[in-house]
Amino acid sequence: MEKKRYACVGTGGRLRMWLKAMAVTYKDSCEIVGLCDINRTRLENTQTALKRDYDYHDVALYNADEFEKMIEEQKPDIVVVATVDRTHHRYIIKAMEMGCDVISEKPMTVDDEKCAKILEAIDRTGRELRVSFNYRYAPHHSQLRQIIKDGTIGDVKQIHFEWLLNTSHGADYFRRWHRDKRNSGGLMVHKSTHHFDLVNFWINSFPVKVYAQGGLKFYGRENAEERGITKFYSRCYGSENAKGDPWAIDMTESDWLRELYLDAEKDDGYIRDQSVFGDNISIEDVMNVIVNYDNGAIMSYSLNAFSPYEGLNVCITGTKGRVEMKLIESIYINGQDDASKEGLVESERIIVYPMFEPGYEVEIQKLEGGHGGGDDVMLDDIFNPNAAYDPLHRAASHIDGAMSIMTGICANKSMATGQPINVFDYIDIPKSKLRKD
Ligand SMILES: NC(=O)c1ccc[n+]([C@@H]2O[C@H](COP(=O)([O-])OP(=O)(O)OC[C@H]3O[C@@H](n4cnc5c(N)ncnc54)[C@H](O)[C@@H]3O)[C@@H](O)[C@H]2O)c1
Repeated sequence: MEKKRYACVGTGGRLRMWLKAMAVTYKDSCEIVGLCDINRTRLENTQTALKRDYDYHDVALYNADEFEKMIEEQKPDIVVVATVDRTHHRYIIKAMEMGCDVISEKPMTVDDEKCAKILEAIDRTGRELRVSFNYRYAPHHSQLRQIIKDGTIGDVKQIHFEWLLNTSHGADYFRRWHRDKRNSGGLMVHKSTHHFDLVNFWINSFPVKVYAQGGLKFYGRENAEERGITKFYSRCYGSENAKGDPWAIDMTESDWLRELYLDAEKDDGYIRDQSVFGDNISIEDVMNVIVNYDNGAIMSYSLNAFSPYEGLNVCITGTKGRVEMKLIESIYINGQDDASKEGLVESERIIVYPMFEPGYEVEIQKLEGGHGGGDDVMLDDIFNPNAAYDPLHRAASHIDGAMSIMTGICANKSMATGQPINVFDYIDIPKSKLRKD
């Protein structure tokens, strides 16, 4: 079998999942031909880990300013983009201009200008972009799509959706680059892109108008001061004040954190263990959003990033009934825990309430692995050349990538202006191109 050639840019925590899939599970159909990163130590440590953990051969390494050289020399078919969100568009566009298809980690990008540039590059080059919406593939999320697709609750009219990030996973976005809104678009884009994509997928529609409010209510120095905290530190490593603080992350206690981040920070000053009660946080930890969809449905959505437990509650009501899903996920810290542990399900329930009939619980298929088992199913869909036809069409395109971030991007605009925002004032996609099946 002829192997597809993959080059990867961004060799941080998330790339490890992709590398394992290409180097081990799908090694007969994939060849990793190049790795690129702005941080030389992380690049070299990734090379070492590939050899040590998977007995993989040497892969050519390229600094960030050698990305084009990597494409010229290694001639990949596909580029995997797993860098800091703010930089995705540059690599996506350059890779396409040089003749490659792209797999981009979510979010596709962080604002509407960058999104427009990506869409223009796709039109111009005719290349393909796939966005890694692994949650779609988790059995509970797929089953919810199936329930709605089957017409069980009729035409969807209302969605109530809350997502809770707990004090370890949620807090972690306030320790690193995500805490600067310019890098991540805030949690409305960085994290909620998953959730807004799920809604688009479940109800087979797309957002048209968004109103949002949000703020930094718990993390950040000022909030901590208000609660009477007087001991502060800028980062955990080497700090007396951080000792015993449940909000601190000690990179010396984990080989993975040390190898990926602590040993590499000398190259570019990327500090992974900043205090969540620092001064320079520009993202929100509490967000409430109202979204109008093209099919007439209305959603109320909320995201909280300091919840005692991690999970979600979603209630969807249609013309024939209502479906409710409640899910609790286990604790996970990126870079400290293995990527396959992110989004492990602790408990889950889906209940359907038909109108004028008793409610019933739906049996949910159990799968092992990250993001409710979604990671492995998505990887199979991407890398297995003999993957079965997917009747749910879960493979997410650039259109799905765009329409999911647009809810968050418009929510950011709404929070900044206090006004409701019309999505199609900020994106130019003909409605005929939007997903219908
Ligand atoms: N699908 C999911 O569920 C999921 C889960 C976690 C992370 N992610 C995504 O994966 C991506 C990476 O996240 P992570 O947690 O691995 O972050 P990370 O901080 O561990 O890694 C980011 C990497 O990008 C590199 N980088 C930064 N700027 C660069 C530049 N200009 N050029 C080249 N490389 C650059 C950094 O050096 C680092 O190696 C993000 O887009 C994130 O949203 C997705």
